[in-house]
Amino acid sequence: MMTTTRIEAFAKANFTLEVYGKRVDGYHALRSLVVPISLSDTLEIVPSAALSSDTGYADDLVLKAARALDPSRGAEIRVTKRIPAGGGLGGGSADAAAALVALNEMWNLGRSREELCEIGAQVGSDVPALVLGGPVVMQGRGEVVDRVACPPLDFVVANPGVHTSTREVYAHCTPRDLAASSATEACLAAFETGDLGRIAASFVNDLALPACRLHPEISDALASLRTAGVLGATVSGSGSSVFGLVESAARAMEIAESLGKKGLSAWAVHTM
Ligand code: C5P
Repeated sequence: MMTTTRIEAFAKANFTLEVYGKRVDGYHALRSLVVPISLSDTLEIVPSAALSSDTGYADDLVLKAARALDPSRGAEIRVTKRIPAGGGLGGGSADAAAALVALNEMWNLGRSREELCEIGAQVGSDVPALVLGGPVVMQGRGEVVDRVACPPLDFVVANPGVHTSTREVYAHCTPRDLAASSATEACLAAFETGDLGRIAASFVNDLALPACRLHPEISDALASLRTAGVLGATVSGSGSSVFGLVESAARAMEIAESLGKKGLSAWAVHTM
């Protein structure tokens, strides 16, 4: 009997993203607080002799993940996309992470989460964080991931419809001083107080400035969020999505609707 496996691939938001110097492998050393949010793609995986995916992407992270897990096996993978591509919400990485977890089960490979994280690191820098799941602090180039606690929070995510190149945004970023105080530690300390104003004030993304300079639409989207009354907002990843913290789910829906009327794609989401 053909059993179809269904799995949700949750997007992420970077509450902090600290970029340090360039490493010898060309990647940047970073520290980032990555939190899964309630915006997801759905993967349907059907057993099959050949490996295929219907994303249509030239650089298909789902296929890359499946091959990295076991190049000798097949599966038919269908992806229903809801997370905007090239949007800093880790859509492709989330799909790859979900594929690793689901195929490990389907193919009876018995890999541990840690092993799946290591395999995920070969697929993309954000994949280990999303394989581990839950709120995490990610370090190194993204391969060092540790779970942290995060209170339930409501957000508005908005996307101005432009695609950013992660590589290009990193290339325009000025790395921070190693001796500088950690924005990630400050955000985790704010979580402990549960004070929304303090949490909102602790969002920091070193890629926000270069992303906004390269694509002024991102700056405009941030301004729209702030005008709509969010408590604090920043860019997620290398953009183009932005997110803002709000007091309640009702407030998130109200703001998402008002931004939608202005032509922005916007979603009311919460932390997972
Ligand atoms: O790993 P991933 O394919 O998602 O990275 C895309 C690009 O982002 C890399 O080619 C690199 O230019 C940049 N990057 C970086 N440092 C990181 C992660 C990504 O410079 N830690």
